Amino acid sequence: MPKKEFDLIVIGGGAIGLSTAYHAGKRGLRTLVLEQYGVLNNNGSSAGESRQFRLQYAQRYMAELSIASVEYWAELQGYSQKSLVRQNGSLWFGDPALNSQEGGIDAAEKVMDDLHIPYTKLDAAGIEANFPFKGLPKDYSGFFQGSGGIIDLKATEEAAFDAALASGNVDIHEYEPAGDIRSNNSGGVIVDTDRGSYSAAKLAICTGPYVNDTLKPLNLSLGIDIWQMSSAYFAKSDPGVMLPTWFVFQDPSDSALFYGFPEVDWAHPGYIRVATDFPDKILSDPSQRTFVPSPKSLALDAQWVGDHMMGLDSTPRFTSTCLIALAQNSNRELLLDYTPAWGTPNENIVTYTAGWAGKYVPILGDMIVRMLLEPSTALQYGNYEIPLRHFAIDWTNAS
Ligand code: BEZ
Repeated sequence: MPKKEFDLIVIGGGAIGLSTAYHAGKRGLRTLVLEQYGVLNNNGSSAGESRQFRLQYAQRYMAELSIASVEYWAELQGYSQKSLVRQNGSLWFGDPALNSQEGGIDAAEKVMDDLHIPYTKLDAAGIEANFPFKGLPKDYSGFFQGSGGIIDLKATEEAAFDAALASGNVDIHEYEPAGDIRSNNSGGVIVDTDRGSYSAAKLAICTGPYVNDTLKPLNLSLGIDIWQMSSAYFAKSDPGVMLPTWFVFQDPSDSALFYGFPEVDWAHPGYIRVATDFPDKILSDPSQRTFVPSPKSLALDAQWVGDHMMGLDSTPRFTSTCLIALAQNSNRELLLDYTPAWGTPNENIVTYTAGWAGKYVPILGDMIVRMLLEPSTALQYGNYEIPLRHFAIDWTNAS
């Protein structure tokens, strides 16, 4: 007889859902993860092989969260033979006054100064002298921060999966989408699937771009834009080319935001990933997603590589698309909140959905579990108090 009673049900077995299951299992909570596809799939926000880790943020609380996440990365690292974050540093450059979804150079420098995060300031000539970029506008500037790096995303998800199972308290059900979500009339939930009904005191909804589908039974929805984004790899024509992770801030209205990575052994060795940081299209539902990248995005990506990067062939290879859910409320970097199910704010149900959260995978699981176990308005990590209001969701009724 399969188990039907749990302390926690996690809907969504992506990176954040698995991390949540690990942190719950570690605390002795009997936990069920329901994943509509197989784990480690490429259908949601955890698509592709790499993400950027960085400490710098334009918002102090986000930088504090990044600093706090470091020990959670170290803990998760204990479950993997692979290096989860490779510390190649993070280079930000471009127009220093520009602000984008990722923040801005000037604002991030101020936060780094406040938090005593070390970095090296660079002008355009200094960037070109130290890194393989060329033809940068003379008024560009930026900085290099040495603690940033590249995240092996699949190894991170595998580690969270292994860690969750190693706790001995976590069941992971693949290809079992959640259907109805009902109150169990004692403060908890019942989640129905086509294989059964499961009951738990607590529920974590971690379904990324699919969140509004998951929330339908609760008659709730929230404002996200689902970006379909393109990515490509470029062959090294100079075997000596060495890059940190990097991001260039240029006028976003010109579709001119790009970011890139060092070469890594876990994804297309001999090639380097350079991606566009603008959507091919904005979807209202993940079912609208296509797997073929936009030729326009790839052309802009290739043009940036040809115009501004040294030692790379500018033909896009190994191209792909991925989805990212971003908050429509531009003041929210992440959406993480208690869920007002059945008419009242419900401290037993936490929803996490949107944001560039790859760098927070290990700590977000802890945040979600702490919110469920000790309902609060702020989470303390060392000396940092992270107020949850920064991640508040503007809920609306689905109908
Ligand atoms: C980030 O560090 O949050 C990020 C980097 C590249 C693209 C988008 C987001």
